[in-house]
Amino acid sequence: MENHGRTGVIQEHGAARSQMKKSPALKEWRRDGYLVTCDPAKADLNVVAAFLGGSYWAKGIPPALVRRSVEHSLNFILLKAQAQIGFARVITDFATIGYLGDVFVLPEHRGQGLGKWLVECVMQHPELQGFRRWILATLDAHELYEQFGFTPLSRPEVFMEKFDPNVYASPRGHQASPI
Ligand SMILES: CC(C)(COP(=O)(O)OP(=O)(O)OC[C@H]1O[C@@H](n2cnc3c(N)ncnc32)[C@H](O)[C@@H]1OP(=O)(O)O)[C@@H](O)C(=O)NCCC(=O)NCCS
Repeated sequence: MENHGRTGVIQEHGAARSQMKKSPALKEWRRDGYLVTCDPAKADLNVVAAFLGGSYWAKGIPPALVRRSVEHSLNFILLKAQAQIGFARVITDFATIGYLGDVFVLPEHRGQGLGKWLVECVMQHPELQGFRRWILATLDAHELYEQFGFTPLSRPEVFMEKFDPNVYASPRGHQASPI
């Protein structure tokens, strides 16, 4: 007899979960000697950690937390001759919502359209389509993201946050044990 009971449902959910854990397609885009890849093995975590550790939004983030965040995100790694020169990552359920964060191009490579191309690759990724909402936070790059349809919050009063800006300077911000 077919099992429609609780156990069956749990098994079904278990199977779905293991499906979901499979890596999303490791997409790549090439242009004029540059590569954007979603393959985390091609990331240079030293470059990412050094930039983010000095950035205005993640100042002081410990390298172990950077590594953990990369492990649990869909990453967009910008390379020139196999050296990493830029980065962006998406935190997502691959179904309804995406958070775009940690976008940067190293200073010596800016102003050539690479940041725009990086965001374009993110927005074109086949597994990031049809979301009800994308979100991001930026201090001054609004005009970059406006070109991809981002707008100020239409109803800021419905959003809340739990914000701990000094977390990386406290012991709470150094808890990067494996999960
Ligand atoms: C933002 C950043 C990724 C842009 O990279 P880039 O390669 O220099 O950008 P591009 O050459 O593709 O140009 C970006 C476009 O956005 C526009 N723009 C708007 N605000 C900008 C800003 N604060 N910084 C850079 N570009 C900005 C530029 O004018 C340009 O548009 P245009 O081509 O229509 O003139 C890069 O400046 C950077 O790493 N900045 C420091 C980190 C940062 O602030 N990241 C964003 C956090 S949300």
